[in-house]
Amino acid sequence: METVVSGIRSTGNLHLGNYFGAIKNFIKMQYEQNCYFFIADYHSLTTYPVPDDLHKNAKQVLVEYLACGIDPEVATIYLQSDLPEVTELYLLLNMNAYIGELERTTTFKDKVRKQPDNVNAGLLTYPVLMAADIIIHKATKVPVGKDQEQNLEMARKFAKRFNRMYDVNCFPEPYPYNFGETLVKIPGLDGSGKMGKSEGNGIYLADSPEDIRIKVTHAVTDTGPTQMNQEMSEPVKNLFAIMQVVSTKDTILYFEDKYNKCEIRYSDMKKQLAEDIIKFTTPLREKILELSANDIYLRNVVKTGAEKARESALKTLKEVREIIGFRAF
Ligand code: TRP
Repeated sequence: METVVSGIRSTGNLHLGNYFGAIKNFIKMQYEQNCYFFIADYHSLTTYPVPDDLHKNAKQVLVEYLACGIDPEVATIYLQSDLPEVTELYLLLNMNAYIGELERTTTFKDKVRKQPDNVNAGLLTYPVLMAADIIIHKATKVPVGKDQEQNLEMARKFAKRFNRMYDVNCFPEPYPYNFGETLVKIPGLDGSGKMGKSEGNGIYLADSPEDIRIKVTHAVTDTGPTQMNQEMSEPVKNLFAIMQVVSTKDTILYFEDKYNKCEIRYSDMKKQLAEDIIKFTTPLREKILELSANDIYLRNVVKTGAEKARESALKTLKEVREIIGFRAF
C-alpha cells in the first residue's frame, strides 16, 4: 500500500468539477491505498477570508467530502490547520527554497496578475506549504488536477533537495496519480474554460434544483448548427461534456443526433441536462444538509482525523529535526 495525500483549498462550495475531477477518484482510492485527505485552510489565507468565512468554508468542504463518500473510518480526513507539524516542516523547507524558482511558478504568476494589490509572501511560498502537506506523510501519490502539476514538481524538487543536502533518503518523491483513469475535466457554463470556484461558472453540489435550472438555462450556447455533422463550438461541446457525466447514454446519443441533423433545440437540451444534474446532486445535497446539522459527528471526525494525521506527521518531523541537527541537550 502506498501513501496518498491530497487536499482541497477551502475557498467555497465544491462544484461538479471538483467531484468528477478529484473526489470521485478519492473515494475509489481510499479502499486501495493509505489515504490522507485534508482541508487546505491555511492555503485559503492567501486570499484573506474573514474569520467567519474561514470556518464556514472549512466546514463546508469537510461536510462535502463526507457527503460524497469519503469514509473517515477508512481514510484519514483532517484540517491542515490541526497539524502544527506541517507549519514547522514548511518553515524548514523554506530555508532551502529559492525566491527565483518560486517566482517562476505559473500559479504564482497567475495570482500576481489576478490580485496585484495582494502579492503576499504566502502566495510566493504556496508550493512550499503544499510540499510540506505531502511529504510530511512521505506520500508517493498525489491525486491532483493538471493545474497542480507544477506545484507537485516543486514538491519533488524540495524532497530531493532535502535528501541530497543531508545525504539521506528521508523523503520519497511524490507523483501525480489518477487511479489509472484519465481525469475528467468539467467545463464551466460560460462557454470558456474549466469549471472553477472563482469563475462563477459552476454548479455546486449544494445548489438547489431551482438554482441549477437557472444556471443551466443561462449557459452560453451558439446560434445552432447550419450544416449536417458540423463541428461543435466550444460552449456547446462544454454542455455535452457535462452531459457525459450526468446523463444516460441514450440521452447523449439523442441530442448528438439532433445536433448532427441540425434539429437541436438548445432549450430542450438544457432542460434535460438540468434535470439530469439535479438527479445526480439531489442525494448529495440531502446528505450535505443532514451532515451540516450534525456538529457532534463532525467534531468527532475532525478530532479522530487530526489524531491519526498527527501521528504520521510527528514521526516524520522527529526524523527531519534529527537529520537537520536539532538535538536534545
Ligand atoms: N494547491 C491545491 C489546489 O489548489 C490544494 C493543495 C494544497 C493540495 N496542498 C495540497 C493538493 C497537497 C494536493 C496535495 O487545488
